[in-house]
Amino acid sequence: MSNTFGQLFRVTTFGESHGGGIGVVIDGCPPRINICEADIQCELDRRRPGQSKLTTQRKEEDHCEILSGVFEGKTLGTPIAIAVRNKDSRPEDYREIAGKFRPSHADYTYQAKYGIRNWQGGGRASARETIGRVAAGAIAKKILATLYADFEIVAYVTKIHDVVAKIDRCTVNAKGVEKNIVRCPDAAAAKRMVSLIEQIRDEGDSVGGVIECVARGIGPGLGEPVFDKLEADLAKAMLSIPATKGFEIGSGFAATRMCGSKHNDAFEMHGGKIRTRTNNSGGVQGGISNGEDIYFRVAFKPPATIALQQKTVTSSKKESELAARGRHDPCVLPRAVPIVEAMAALVLCDHALRQWAISIADRGSPTAD
Ligand SMILES: Cc1cc2nc3c(=O)[nH]c(=O)nc-3n(C[C@H](O)[C@H](O)[C@H](O)COP(=O)(O)O)c2cc1C
Repeated sequence: MSNTFGQLFRVTTFGESHGGGIGVVIDGCPPRINICEADIQCELDRRRPGQSKLTTQRKEEDHCEILSGVFEGKTLGTPIAIAVRNKDSRPEDYREIAGKFRPSHADYTYQAKYGIRNWQGGGRASARETIGRVAAGAIAKKILATLYADFEIVAYVTKIHDVVAKIDRCTVNAKGVEKNIVRCPDAAAAKRMVSLIEQIRDEGDSVGGVIECVARGIGPGLGEPVFDKLEADLAKAMLSIPATKGFEIGSGFAATRMCGSKHNDAFEMHGGKIRTRTNNSGGVQGGISNGEDIYFRVAFKPPATIALQQKTVTSSKKESELAARGRHDPCVLPRAVPIVEAMAALVLCDHALRQWAISIADRGSPTAD
């Protein structure tokens, strides 16, 4: 299995939905970064189940504990371990899927690959795994804020099913996103999204949508051509989030309908800095950040576990039917917003540390006097 992400800022997540707990070990975090449990908890609270009527009603506080690597409010440079206990497990809800594969979930593929699976709550394929990512992302955000004075990362829902929001990417901020339970900063669209999710949930079905994310204040130079280009690592990070189906950066697929003369981002000088007039590149050119806002979109499918009856097969290869029980998200997007931000922060933090490591010609002695 591959449970570790990053080169210099390395995170390893562990845990299953209905095991003892979930967490993360972070190796390669620089020492003397201010961090406390509250910095991590506020991000976990945005991801937590049961936070609104739109999410699964599983009751988890997701209270985090820093077990190592932090002393008197500062990172030590040693491995940071963060754990969250699972409290509200209900394995009996999943008894039927012990012997039946949920269509479009990970039940069949885990069984086919490992010959064994923890069917309780989806085991390792459960989105509870992303607790570790969000906890590590909170620390990555702190490091980025230390390196870049104007650093900011904001993700938000732009589309649920056929409801499309109008959002100004250049001005959107975290406060606007957190104003409603669907995390869409267009209030009118958010209202329609909430009603749609409720209606679909009551019908026993589910819906997907699109999250956009913008990272501001990152200087030029992040990204390692050729295989660890910044957009390649962002794409991998996003597509490793459960239920994702697509990734596009900058103009994305719309670039296929534009001519070069319209698509090119003309360079110009602004206050002594090289800037671009437009930003179809999404802040990345040649796999390296160019100092403009980095923005991308991630497509999420409708979650697989639905109450409606569906055709499936049993683990003994008999055709059968399944109407899933248990507590599930009718739409994952409101809870996925902090996960997208966290994965973006992990990629940017890792690349910022890598860029720092190759910039020796610009810096003095690596140790303090
Ligand atoms: C925040 C979040 C919550 C999720 N909640 C559910 C859920 O309640 N029920 C479900 O079937 N899938 C849920 N998923 C998606 C599954 O974890 C995912 O579909 C499954 O692991 C199979 O992986 P895949 O869809 O990437 O192929 C959730 C995903 C995220 C990001």
